[in-house]
Amino acid sequence: MISRLDLDALQAALAGTPLQDWSAGLPGQIDAKLAIGHGDLARWYGAVQALPELKVEQLELLHNFSFNGRYDEPMRATLKTALQGLIPWRKGPFHLFDVHVDTEWRSDWKWQRVAPYLDLKGKRVLDVGCGNGYYMWRMLGAGADSVVGIDPNWLFLCQFLAMKNYLPDLPVWHLPLAFEELPRKLQGFDTVFSMGVLYHRRSPIDHLIDLKDCLVKDGELVLETLVVEGDAQQVLVPEDRYAQMRNVWFLPSVPALELWLRRAGFVDVRCVDVSTTSVEEQRSTEWMRFQSLPEFLDPADHSRTLEGLPAPSRAVLIARKP
Ligand SMILES: C[S@@+](CC[C@H](N)C(=O)[O-])C[C@H]1O[C@@H](n2cnc3c(N)ncnc32)[C@H](O)[C@@H]1O
Repeated sequence: MISRLDLDALQAALAGTPLQDWSAGLPGQIDAKLAIGHGDLARWYGAVQALPELKVEQLELLHNFSFNGRYDEPMRATLKTALQGLIPWRKGPFHLFDVHVDTEWRSDWKWQRVAPYLDLKGKRVLDVGCGNGYYMWRMLGAGADSVVGIDPNWLFLCQFLAMKNYLPDLPVWHLPLAFEELPRKLQGFDTVFSMGVLYHRRSPIDHLIDLKDCLVKDGELVLETLVVEGDAQQVLVPEDRYAQMRNVWFLPSVPALELWLRRAGFVDVRCVDVSTTSVEEQRSTEWMRFQSLPEFLDPADHSRTLEGLPAPSRAVLIARKP
């Protein structure tokens, strides 16, 4: 499996950058993690290996994620079965050889809210908590030079590898690492994304400082997280669950988040979008059959979660490391 991670190509891409030494140690670090692995990893990786051999002839990453080429019906059926072996699919959608993976999230909608404010051309990008890598492909589509994502979830890694199987030469890498497993002060990425991660952190300001330490001077942070309404001192800490999620800690207001970013040492802090998540954007599908947002909201009042808290609203903030 380690060869599928394509670490030689990653090391070649990072040669001569401040990330060179870090990339040299990655094979050993990831081998050690693979040795521990996960009970379902063999099954998920088996699904990746069951993908039929098909050649990509048309590729679209700018406007959506889709690729196509010649196939016959048995091959398409094999492809669909292999991809179904990687259910649940949360972030997407992905469209490959006319198989439409209709994921729980319309992540393309989030990307439409983020992308207009970014210039990723020629940038070396890190995506912290990249999930199955959906946004990483879209970042490449937006002109990034190289994209590295980290996420400790093995299923999401296998979903990424399913796509990379058909696009082996693109400069995008998914590493099965937690953010805490990166060295301190990498200071090597031009743009760092943290989307859907901050509210899971028990020390959110430390998270912001750690993100800043991954950036080069003048590098840009793209932060997306759950917010509540209110002034700079307004923060919601759920007593227990939030929209049925157990591990939600801090939901600040936008002014509070801007203040946190400034205290963490960022400048040019700006909020570019605030959106309430709709039940069309996050819902169950045939590719994600568990409960989803419609079941996590108060059935009588969609402005509240089942716990009686404000329904999910998300902000996108951009900030610069001076
Ligand atoms: C809510 S999802 C967000 C996924 C994606 N970034 C998005 O915006 O749709 C949070 C992601 O963070 C990952 N994650 C959890 N703990 C992490 C850690 N310690 N370091 C990095 N990622 C982590 C999870 O596996 C999950 O994919």
